[in-house]
Amino acid sequence: MGSTIYYFSATGNSLTIARQIAKRLGDCKVISMASQPTGEPVGGPGESIGFVFPVFYIGLPRLVRYFAQKLNITEGTYCFAFISFGGYGADTLGMLDDILKEKGAHLSFADGVKMPGNYIVKYQAFAPDVVQKLIKAAMDKADEAAEAVSNGKLRPVKRNGRLLGKIANRRYLYKGIAEWDEKFKVGRCTGCGLCAKVCPVNNIKMEDRRPLWLHHCERCLACIQWCPCEAIEYGQKTIGRRRYHNPNVSAEDIIKGNARVI
Ligand SMILES: Cc1cc2nc3c(=O)[nH]c(=O)nc-3n(C[C@H](O)[C@H](O)[C@H](O)COP(=O)(O)O)c2cc1C
Ligand code: SF4
Ligand code: SF4
Repeated sequence: MGSTIYYFSATGNSLTIARQIAKRLGDCKVISMASQPTGEPVGGPGESIGFVFPVFYIGLPRLVRYFAQKLNITEGTYCFAFISFGGYGADTLGMLDDILKEKGAHLSFADGVKMPGNYIVKYQAFAPDVVQKLIKAAMDKADEAAEAVSNGKLRPVKRNGRLLGKIANRRYLYKGIAEWDEKFKVGRCTGCGLCAKVCPVNNIKMEDRRPLWLHHCERCLACIQWCPCEAIEYGQKTIGRRRYHNPNVSAEDIIKGNARVI
């Protein structure tokens, strides 16, 4: 069966999972959700569509929500999702399932895995040995998911943490998202422009060789995490904190994804 995986990934965790599942499935396209759907019908009977992405504020990243809402899924498509999170995913898979159900589709297989946390606003990157262990375990789980998907197995969403998710989502998920990037500050910048290139939504403009945030941020933190000079800070909170990106992914991989298909 032909497959397509749509992924969203700021620091590479979800991209490594998407690639791993695609490798096991064979005949599988891997497409970044940074490329918004064209409206053309996708999938079909005997085909599978996957969604691989991180949890944000114990919920569905806004970019993923918009993507799923716009995707034109053909009836009879086998849909699956696999999320990555630093600690707790709550009802994120359920939120996606609800969107798909409104379109007459649903998740036949849903799972997720703990990966190194990248929310530098609250904590620094985990130590390298912890990162390696988490990634190894996650790749094993991604292999199991790929096996299940290729056999058309059913594993519907288990609705965990729905109430907690709803309360937290109301307070944090998309609240204040427009002004959120006002706290980014730039220090010793070389003007390389990488921060602008890794941004999935073109929210950074280079002006006089310095980044300028345009206030339609998705809060993915790619810009701060990938800056080769660690020149970007989020207010005072991130000063001195170790940066994170998945060791098996390069900035070039993220940039290629932003430029549509990899
Ligand atoms: C804005 C933001 C919010 C996050 N919120 C959560 C969360 O609520 N729960 C959680 O377990 N991890 C959370 N994380 C951590 C990511 O889900 C996790 O590190 C993920 O693997 C990153 O995937 P990526 O490398 O593909 O971007 C958050 C990360 C970001 C950037
Ligand atoms: S990635 Fe860092 S060094 Fe390069 S332009 Fe952006 S802030 Fe400056
Ligand atoms: S500006 Fe930075 S945090 Fe916001 S969407 Fe772009 S890369 Fe992500």
